[in-house]
Amino acid sequence: MAILKIARMGHPVLLGKALPVADPQAAEIQLLLADMVETLQDAGGVGLAAPQVYRPLRMFIWHLPATRAENGVAVPLSVVVNPEITPLSETRELGWEGCLSIPGLRAAVPRYRDIRLTGLDARGMPFTTALSGFAARIVQHETDHLDGILYPMRMSDFRYFGFNEETDRYNQPLPEIV
Ligand code: NI
Repeated sequence: MAILKIARMGHPVLLGKALPVADPQAAEIQLLLADMVETLQDAGGVGLAAPQVYRPLRMFIWHLPATRAENGVAVPLSVVVNPEITPLSETRELGWEGCLSIPGLRAAVPRYRDIRLTGLDARGMPFTTALSGFAARIVQHETDHLDGILYPMRMSDFRYFGFNEETDRYNQPLPEIV
């Protein structure tokens, strides 16, 4: 296994539309997923999409630590291949997010609160699940990577864009989306 280099904002690999994965069980896909897991564990963070490691394929990994889950229930590290997202309501929320491709910064980004996620798991088995809150936010962020969309392109208010140290220090409350 290997820790992979993570592309940073400005590299064109982050702006392309990634291709569907034909066979999640193919040896090269399984190896790439294992390397992505090692890379995410090394870098820290809650998600990593294949284009971020210079592979324009429609797959990502994510997890939700209990400390960051609204209901305190952790989501273990999960593989999502060829994801499709459907909003389950029109409700959107502003919430803070960062990105391993935009180190040191974070912003408040509007996202759907409730979504349905369908896709294939690491064994190529179809699944569908409903997600809310921060879990839904992570999955929307990672799926955006597969379409060449970075979170600044989703922002609605650039006042809530800053360096991690400063946003931690001042901890601005976020407005409701109306
Ligand atoms: Ni990201």
